[in-house]
Amino acid sequence: MAKSNIVLLSILVVMASLSSLPMQGLSLLLPGIEIGQVNIRGDVTCSLTGDPNAPPVSNAKVLLVCAGSSTPLAQALTDTNGTFVFVLNALKAVLIRPDICGVVVNLPAGTCELYPPDGILTASINLFNVVITNLLAIVYYVTGPFLDSTV
Ligand SMILES: *[C@@H]1O[C@H](CO)[C@@H](O)[C@H](O)[C@H]1NC(C)=O
Repeated sequence: MAKSNIVLLSILVVMASLSSLPMQGLSLLLPGIEIGQVNIRGDVTCSLTGDPNAPPVSNAKVLLVCAGSSTPLAQALTDTNGTFVFVLNALKAVLIRPDICGVVVNLPAGTCELYPPDGILTASINLFNVVITNLLAIVYYVTGPFLDSTV
């Protein structure tokens, strides 16, 4: 009983801190609780405006990028539903901040009738959930809509 209250309180602390301190990393906000993993999930559709009802884009290379880092933190391919998931270990998880990180997708030429045909779309990452077990947090993010980064 007491443990679940602590977990709930911790989640509320994370939520409150995120909204008031967007520049601060999650790891600094919860004394005694470490981030064990970050999962970032999203869907890529054939749209420049993030239309969720557009056809899914499969087999597209998706990159997780953060300001200040010249190389992507992770990469993945979309499945047949246009869905991808980044799973980041503790070492990389602490680097994830929604204010400086985002997801970039390079649409494979020919799979999606868009102009430009090999357009680059970008999406923000948004905190979805935090699950804390034995002082280790798994932080779940979902992406916002993928938008044409040149618009
Ligand atoms: C795609 O979505 C369908 C319907 O939700 C699901 O049954 C199928 O398992 C999904 N495919 C993959 C590769 O996840």
